[in-house]
Order: sequence, then C-alpha cells, then structure tokens
Amino acid sequence: MAVMVADVVTDYWSLGAEVDDLGDAVLVRRPGLPRSTFLHRLRPRGVEELDSALDAARTIAQVPQIVLDPDAPPFVEAELVVRGWRIDTSVQLVLPPGASGPAPDGPVRPAADADREALRALFRADHLETDRRSGRAARSEERTDATVEERWALGPSVHWFVADDGEGPVGFFASWAGGARGTGVVEDLFVHEDRRGRGYARALIGAAVADARVGGAGPVVIGADPSDTPMRWYARLGFRPTVILRSLTPPT
Ligand SMILES: CC(C)(COP(=O)(O)OP(=O)(O)OC[C@H]1O[C@@H](n2cnc3c(N)ncnc32)[C@H](O)[C@@H]1OP(=O)(O)O)[C@@H](O)C(=O)NCCC(=O)NCCS
Repeated sequence: MAVMVADVVTDYWSLGAEVDDLGDAVLVRRPGLPRSTFLHRLRPRGVEELDSALDAARTIAQVPQIVLDPDAPPFVEAELVVRGWRIDTSVQLVLPPGASGPAPDGPVRPAADADREALRALFRADHLETDRRSGRAARSEERTDATVEERWALGPSVHWFVADDGEGPVGFFASWAGGARGTGVVEDLFVHEDRRGRGYARALIGAAVADARVGGAGPVVIGADPSDTPMRWYARLGFRPTVILRSLTPPT
C-alpha cells in the first residue's frame, strides 16, 4: 500500500509532463517550468550508480528535487543528506474505498476558466501566509506564477473546485480520479484566512472526493504537512495515515 501511494502521488505530479526513464531513476520535467523538475524511482545499487543517475539527469535538466519512495535504497537518502541535501516530508493519508468523505454541501462549484485570475490570487495569498508563518522572506510573484502554471500544466484530468461566497472564489481544491491505478488524489487545499471556520474546506473535500469517486477512484489519497494540524482533521474524516514521503532539495 505504501509503495502504491507513493506511485500514485508521483503519477499525479507527472501528469502532462515529459518523463525520461534513466534506468536507475525517472526524470519528470516541464519545459519552461524548471523548478517543477524532479527525479524519482531511484534504484541505484551503490554510490557510483547514484552518481551516474544524477549525471544522466543533469545532462537533460537541473534537478531541484528528488522524491524518495519506500522502495528506494536507504543509502540514497543518507548519502545525499551527507552531501548537504535537505529533507522535506509529507504524510500521506488514504480514504478507504468504502468510506465516504464529508458531505459535499456548501457553496462549492467546479472552477471555470473565468476563475483563473481569482485562483492565482488565492495561490498568492497561500504562499504569502506560508512564508510569513515560517519566517521566510516572501517569495517572488514569479515563483507564485510558476506554481500556478505548473498546476494548469497537470491538464484536464485534474478537476479544480472553488468555494464561492457569492463574491467570488475564497478557497480551492483539486481532484484526480487516478487513471488506471484506480486510486484518486485530492490536492492543494486552501481557504482564504478571512473566510475560515465556515465549513468551506469541509465542503471542498466532500466535492473533490465525490468527484474522484465518480471518475472511478476507490481509495483517495491526501497529503499533509507533518508539522501542521490539518492532518489530524483529515484522520478524523476517515483518511488513514499510510506513509511518509521524503523529498530532498540540493544544497544552494
Ligand atoms: C486548513 C484549511 C483549508 C481549513 O479551512 P476552513 O474552511 O477554515 O475549514 P472548515 O471551516 O471546513 O473546518 C475544517 C475543520 O477544522 C476545524 N476548524 C476550522 N477553523 C478552526 C479554528 N479556527 N480553530 C479550530 N478548529 C478549526 C473545524 O472545526 C473543522 O472540523 P470539523 O469538520 O470536524 O468540524 C485552512 O485553514 C487553510 O487554508 N489553511 C492554510 C493552508 C493549509 O494548511 N492547507 C492544508 C494543507 S495540508
């Protein structure tokens, strides 16, 4: 289950991207969006093969991120950490096929093309809040624009939902039915600070899970930050903690 969830999550982030199988690793990239490049499915048997895989990837693109799955040889993480790469973690929770999500009631609707500018403004609010809370300098507008472009580049199989309080979108969430694996993903939950505590996130999760199920998903995966509180709420909703995914970013 843990490996399958890791595969589903990387499948999601590979949607619409160019994928190069390098043998001991798989490179995922999007022309024009260099920060979204990542390397995953690392299977080197030793340090030389790890370096060969990294060199092979770098002949194609810079590698700003490596995503590790539970089947990656443990030395890869240890070796890269010693070289100065930084670890980030996410906890992945899975709603079992038999469990329904929260009721999709509330002012939630599918996003329309006309909502794109409002969605971009919400992504910007999300980034500014994240940076403020972590004590970092605010990231540039260009970084936010690249994040939003990456989301649209996932393509039409990812369905976006907005919470709309009558004056326009105040929150968003996305769902993907999961294709052939039959395991869905719900991703990128945000409600504007001024509109929290009104059940909008609950309704967004309900709508996204229901949409993934209509598309054929049985289990549905949601990711969360292990240092933040939403993961506990997801668990109360019936999502089961399943695996910690690690990603590594290179030293600057
Ligand atoms: C997490 C987030 C989406 C919740 O949005 P929201 O619209 O306020 O959530 P809801 O009103 O639907 O409430 C969700 C749950 O959190 C609880 N909650 C909401 N606001 C709360 C508050 N201020 N204090 C304590 N609990 C609160 C609710 O009781 C509810 O639990 P319940 O369904 O068991 O009653 C929002 O805070 C947010 O966007 N945060 C920043 C981005 C983020 O963390 N995204 C999730 C990434 S994993």
